[in-house]
Amino acid sequence: MIQVFRGSLLFFTSDPLQDGDAAYQWIEDGLLWVGESGLIERVGAYEQLAGLLIEQQTEQQIQLLDYRGKILLPGFVDCHIHYPQTEMIAAYGTQLLDWLQTHTFPVESRFSDYDYGVSIAERFVTELLRNGTTTALVFGTVHPQSVEAFFSVAQQHRLRMIAGKVMMDRHAPESVLDTAETSYHESKALIEKWHGVDRLSYAVTPRFAPTSTPAQLHMAGRLLAEFPDVYLHTHLSENVDELAWVQSLFPDSEHYLDVYDQAGLLGSRSIFAHGIHLCDDECQRLASSDSVLAHCPSSNLFLGSGLFNLKKMDDYGIRVGIGSDVGGGSSFSAFDSLADAYKIQQLQHHNLDPFRALYLATLGGAKALSLDNKIGSFQPGMEADFIVMDPQATDFLAFRTAHCHNLKETLFVLNTLGDDRVIAATYILGQLAHQRDSHHVPQGE
Ligand code: GUN
Ligand code: ZN
Repeated sequence: MIQVFRGSLLFFTSDPLQDGDAAYQWIEDGLLWVGESGLIERVGAYEQLAGLLIEQQTEQQIQLLDYRGKILLPGFVDCHIHYPQTEMIAAYGTQLLDWLQTHTFPVESRFSDYDYGVSIAERFVTELLRNGTTTALVFGTVHPQSVEAFFSVAQQHRLRMIAGKVMMDRHAPESVLDTAETSYHESKALIEKWHGVDRLSYAVTPRFAPTSTPAQLHMAGRLLAEFPDVYLHTHLSENVDELAWVQSLFPDSEHYLDVYDQAGLLGSRSIFAHGIHLCDDECQRLASSDSVLAHCPSSNLFLGSGLFNLKKMDDYGIRVGIGSDVGGGSSFSAFDSLADAYKIQQLQHHNLDPFRALYLATLGGAKALSLDNKIGSFQPGMEADFIVMDPQATDFLAFRTAHCHNLKETLFVLNTLGDDRVIAATYILGQLAHQRDSHHVPQGE
């Protein structure tokens, strides 16, 4: 059945950094028209499309869902997150390297059990959808079963997801280690089984330089050479102790990024999480190789890693997406990430305006993942993954947004104060995948 959604539409067609107000479209009383395939067929103002709607309604079954007073936005794109860490989000402790040993590795060791992986993946997907995140770039664990479990669950929910098996062959407990050889063969088998199936894609996922031997990093590079359209997903320059460790482990490398560069891991489908403590040469090399950074504001504050310099990355022309980095990040909500991103830029005397912030969390994220021909905006032919935001989700939000004078103020308040309660509904390929208030069923006409 064709579904037509009426409400305020907000979506980006380019980056506000370059195009300012011309980068977004705001249709206060709009229609989003979704075909049976789950793809967007038409987008426009209600008054322009109402005639066509009435005409078509006589010919075929069309369901009209009325979300007037709410804002329809493309679903959030999370460019860096760990599904196995769902159960250890908000773990008390010190910084990255100690946190990995104390909390992360023991939890990840449980994912040799496929059924356990399925149960956590279900919980993880539920949280993503509750928070309006419809696509993510996801770390599994070292166990191939963890990725089997995740892809199976994502496939059942018809989600567009990218994930991969962690490659790590040193500096961690035996229960979460592979070898250069087994990591190659297991990753390859997963690519052959899952990459390009339905809405799923594969990311070659060496954890980070300290937990891979040079031989393993070269195996990762070999996989990228053999399968040019898979992704590369890893961590880069997050914590100062990590930096010093990388320098001691790879004395022949010029800097942290060079370790990955020497293994052939840079490119337009390579996403590096964090990138906080980068030198100019690293920035230049990221830009020239068209590699991507996933900025993870919540995690950077929670783990005390440092302040990401968005302006500097923009000046270098590096593509940036936003990641929650759960469980290093302490929230699944893109609103929390955007609120933290704003504060991180404030501490460096830079500004992150709400349009740019929402761009980064939607179309910017889709561009970061080279998926902007499929998701991240409302254009005919794109996949209808979207959210319904309620600016009056709570009494206090209703009060506060009533005091906003324009769209920019309202969006900034939502970015700063919003949480999962703002997500009234999440749609995947035009089908309802989450509804906050089960009593509220929007009435058609
Ligand atoms: N660096 C290596 N592994 C991890 C991880 O699991 N989380 C974060 N935030 N950084 C890492
Ligand atoms: Zn991470």
